[in-house]
Amino acid sequence: MKIIKADNYEHMSKMAARTMASQIALKNNSVIGLATGDTPLGMYRELIKIYEDEELDFSNIKTFNLDEYYGLNIDNENSYYFYMMNNFFKHINMRKENINIPNGMTENIEAECFSYDKKIKASGGIDIQVLGIGVNGHIGFNEPNTSFEVGTHLVELEKETIKSNSRFFNSPEEVPTKAISMGIKTIMQSRAIMLLASGEKKAAAIEKAVKGKISTAVPASILQLHNNVTLIVDKAAGEFI
Ligand code: GLP
Repeated sequence: MKIIKADNYEHMSKMAARTMASQIALKNNSVIGLATGDTPLGMYRELIKIYEDEELDFSNIKTFNLDEYYGLNIDNENSYYFYMMNNFFKHINMRKENINIPNGMTENIEAECFSYDKKIKASGGIDIQVLGIGVNGHIGFNEPNTSFEVGTHLVELEKETIKSNSRFFNSPEEVPTKAISMGIKTIMQSRAIMLLASGEKKAAAIEKAVKGKISTAVPASILQLHNNVTLIVDKAAGEFI
């Protein structure tokens, strides 16, 4: 695992955006895996700047998002679809048909999950997947003790995750208890992975992910077995590594 220690959140975001921009410049039809949450927001802002200043072309880029809340409509402002549109896609020249986010309103979960993985494969596989990390070490919405062998699936969110994500909702009761997430197997099939973490609340999870035993108890620890992972942390998140 390549570890890059950034000075702070802005620095981390710039380096992440540069990595993405190079990928896009080198391969204009790249398949990119995207994440939500607070962590990648700065990267999206930087990428929009690069797009505006350097005319980075997203018109042939395909994206696959890691996850979506189960039961939230795309026009719900807490849906990850809404987040992606607002924070990134509407600012760049992505084609709508190239954007893939699990459908949280599906009536057939199994078919949705199966076709999501199938579509990733059919697109040639993910060139680079961006990941954040949960305080409990989750990646995507793969909570502790999820098998490393599963593809996209429906997950039950842990109490800690619901509590942590409730900051975006009016109350914890409004946070969906389930989500559709790319599985660890899907994530591990990406050709490259870029894991981002910022802030002291992520330091323990990063330590376990990087130096701990590889175990489903810490989903991110599986990344130790991937041959092309770049971890970009700020000082606080990288304190113990
Ligand atoms: C959510 C997302 C993850 C994300 C994590 C951390 O649970 N499903 O993909 O990595 O939160 O979020 P944040 O970056 O806001 O700390």
